[in-house]
Amino acid sequence: MPASQNERILVTGACGQIGVELTLALRERYGNDNVVATDIRPLPAGIVSSGPGERLDVTQREALTSVIERHRISVIYHMAAILSATGEEKPRLAWNVNIGGLHNVLETARELGVTRVYHPSSIAAFGPESPKEDTPQETVLRPTTLYGITKVTGELLGMYYSRRFGLDVRGIRYPGVISSETLPGGGTTDYAVEIFYEALRRGRYSCFVRADTVLPMIYMPDCIRATLMLMDAPRVRLRHAAEYNVAALSFSAGELAAEIRRRIPDFVCEYRPDFRQQIADSWPRTIDDRAAREEWGWAPQYDLAAMVEDMLEKLSSRLGSASSTLGPL
Ligand code: SER
Repeated sequence: MPASQNERILVTGACGQIGVELTLALRERYGNDNVVATDIRPLPAGIVSSGPGERLDVTQREALTSVIERHRISVIYHMAAILSATGEEKPRLAWNVNIGGLHNVLETARELGVTRVYHPSSIAAFGPESPKEDTPQETVLRPTTLYGITKVTGELLGMYYSRRFGLDVRGIRYPGVISSETLPGGGTTDYAVEIFYEALRRGRYSCFVRADTVLPMIYMPDCIRATLMLMDAPRVRLRHAAEYNVAALSFSAGELAAEIRRRIPDFVCEYRPDFRQQIADSWPRTIDDRAAREEWGWAPQYDLAAMVEDMLEKLSSRLGSASSTLGPL
């Protein structure tokens, strides 16, 4: 159950892959008027029409303060971030948005009496020296990407604000997120979403990681459910803060292509690794999420086959005639 039905919620990065669906899920739970959607980009029609929204650059502290004050915000879901591949191309921007933005959010939250902040971390917090299989909750965190460095720093800042100022900061180390509503942008795990669009539109995909690349992934309904479950959990049961390992799926790019081919027999996937291969190779293959399971009851609902079936169904009806390319299982 939600901690309180009277929350006034701010979502940053509401245009993003997770932000759009999270905003809609929060509006359904807490009431449309109680969830303020913000992003530096223009908000999509479904978000604008269903509740309050504003343009917000999280690196601008005064603008952030103004939104929090005007809307009497009590809880922040801080989703605005630059992802791993863009972060390697624009490391300064990634630092400014991911760390400057987070610091603004935490400072403003503390000053204005916001009670809780959700801030996601990522499997990118791990690095080549972390165990690749069943990567533990507590292990060496020495990421090689700038994005990963901002995620580890974000986890530490979250813990610091929790301990030092009593701000309730929570977060999940998201696996790669697979979604049917909003495309990801600038991430290393984006291939696991692009492949569906290309399979339906063109019957072929050129994948930017090798076929044997295994990464932890999660389907969006599970991702949203995990986020809300963690935020609903009684604080006393949580032994961690902004750094929960969460596992759902782990598969190779080749296994994903094969699962799609069961439904679209003519689908062809070729593999042309680029700079993102090295990023993928530095991340875990599977995750140990016992802490999340024990402390707040986490369990995923979608396996690979169920996820692929649901993705193809949703996307094929959205992309229209492409549905005719779907063969029987
Ligand atoms: N999905 C993200 C990325 O690929 C990782 O958190 O950058």
